[in-house]
Amino acid sequence: MTNPMGKKIGVLLSGRGSNFEALADSVAAGRIPDAEISMVISNREDAAGLLRAAERRIPARVIPSKGVEREAYDRLVVAALNEARVDLVCLAGFMRLLSPYFVAAFRRRILNIHPSLLPAFPGLEAQRQALDYGVKFSGCTVHFVDETLDAGPIVVQAIVPVKSGDTEETLAARILTEEHRIYTEAVRLVLSGKFRIEDRRVLPPAEANQEEHLNVPLTGRAKSR
Ligand code: GRF
Repeated sequence: MTNPMGKKIGVLLSGRGSNFEALADSVAAGRIPDAEISMVISNREDAAGLLRAAERRIPARVIPSKGVEREAYDRLVVAALNEARVDLVCLAGFMRLLSPYFVAAFRRRILNIHPSLLPAFPGLEAQRQALDYGVKFSGCTVHFVDETLDAGPIVVQAIVPVKSGDTEETLAARILTEEHRIYTEAVRLVLSGKFRIEDRRVLPPAEANQEEHLNVPLTGRAKSR
């Protein structure tokens, strides 16, 4: 699109697509420099995110997953991502586990966003899990994807307070605001290449001024009570 030499992002989604929209807005506004979203893929044809992609004239495809075995499905998706020359895959509400085949095809080039402070509350209904557990703070996490659910190296996290009157919906909305902010921060950092991974810690490059990297405010506008 705008910059044929830039990095290409592929977004996988299954539903609403607000994180995809946040990334698309950040690319358009230059907050993620030298990048474009070159492909959106949904496993569901009724995903609202597909409409959002069409509005933005971003190429989008439905690859239906129903009844397709996991690795066979992932081979189709990986082929589509490669065809679109994708450098970085961003999962944005993609409701499927990736097979080892997929993870190996894009090793350290797949990010996911999860609505809790991992490793707390992995899996489905993370906001419900946080409320039921009674935590006073929750948040969101952008992490690299590996073979284990919601468990790869953490790139960026943000904290939000859990308020006494919260419902799943109010907590989810507060977290979502932070999701949109930190997904951009994480994608910008990863595409810049200015990081290294030691064991499972995402760190500034060895030679870098430590102050300049991973310097993402933890809480944004969120205030504790
Ligand atoms: C977000 O809460 C994200 O953290 C989780 O699924 C939800 C997707 O929302 N993985 P959206 O489709 O990006 O609006």
